[in-house]
Amino acid sequence: MIADRKDDHVRHAVSQRRQHSGASDFDSVTFVHHALAGIDSQDVSLAVEFAGKSWETPLFVNAMTGGSPRTGEINRLLAIAARETGVPIASGSMSAYFRDPEVAGTYRVLRQENPHGFVMANVNATATVDQVHRAIDLLEADALQIHLNAVQEVVMPEGDRSFGSWPRQIEQIVAHSPVPVIVKEVGFGLSRQTVTWLREAGVAVADVGGRGGTNFARIENDRRSTADFGFLDSWGQSTPNCLLDCAGVAGIDIAASGGIRSPIDMARALALGAKATGVAGAFLEIVVGRDDAALVDTIRTWLGQLRQLLTVLGARSPADLAGCDLLLTDDVATFCGLRGIDVDSYAHRSSWWSESKSSRRSHP
Ligand code: FNR
Repeated sequence: MIADRKDDHVRHAVSQRRQHSGASDFDSVTFVHHALAGIDSQDVSLAVEFAGKSWETPLFVNAMTGGSPRTGEINRLLAIAARETGVPIASGSMSAYFRDPEVAGTYRVLRQENPHGFVMANVNATATVDQVHRAIDLLEADALQIHLNAVQEVVMPEGDRSFGSWPRQIEQIVAHSPVPVIVKEVGFGLSRQTVTWLREAGVAVADVGGRGGTNFARIENDRRSTADFGFLDSWGQSTPNCLLDCAGVAGIDIAASGGIRSPIDMARALALGAKATGVAGAFLEIVVGRDDAALVDTIRTWLGQLRQLLTVLGARSPADLAGCDLLLTDDVATFCGLRGIDVDSYAHRSSWWSESKSSRRSHP
């Protein structure tokens, strides 16, 4: 039954993308253009420090799948793309492997095809310490993702209904994991309060996993015979809003995922404080619909275009984007007003003008 569900998720996620209007809160985040702020492309490095390691790029392939022959093949294609482009990659939830070790190969392929890459195992918040060790061992994982998906579970007829133990179990996993722990939402977002709690629990990275991309309330609702959970279609906070909400929480790395459609969305997420950006649905659609090389080409194009965006914006690194001036409008500005976030300060962050004036003074 789990294998059927995994195949269903892929099918529904891809068809949902094809129906989506394309509107996004990311469109309410705009860079102020400063025509003399640009730098030389060769001076830009896309490298970031993330989850205790150096990554060559601020992009990763986020958790999706495994557990059936078809999803094993998808994992093989995703792993090849990760290997060829050097981007880190996460496994889908490994619950199917805990129930049936015979499906191990559909996950293990992520490491077999990508022996030197950064690979993340993925479990739910009820995984035991023993299961966590088995998941990490199978993938020789560099980090562990724990996914939070209470909204998805309640819409699934066969889903979990007990979430009260999650905080205690996350603490247990953090205490016993041999690799850094990343906690992620699956598309409904992490609030400032949740991220603060995760930091106190010793979690290394919070991936905000906000609304705006793949929508598991809709996917599970479409799988129900009664489809009566449509009222949850717009549940949760969008990814830009989550990043703004969490901006003041120090001591934990923030990752952005949920609805990242393009290099400009990556740049916007990095400018809003994310250290890295994860993409799931947009990359799934490419491996499902086209040949093996298509995703490699797309990732290379995205990274090249991200570099050009940083060049124009005068950012030598992804971290420098956090100093760029941003205009926050529409629903994003409304959210900021209600959550006590100062929209004006984002529009006046850059210092390139005063820096270039002082360098002209010192080198007449
Ligand atoms: C997912 N996602 C996911 N997340 C997770 O932590 N464990 C999982 O098993 C899965 N499974 C899964 C299957 C499929 C088909 C998709 C498309 C996605 C969620 C994923 O990692 C991500 O959080 C959301 O999809 C939002 O990002 P995008 O798709 O909008 O880029």
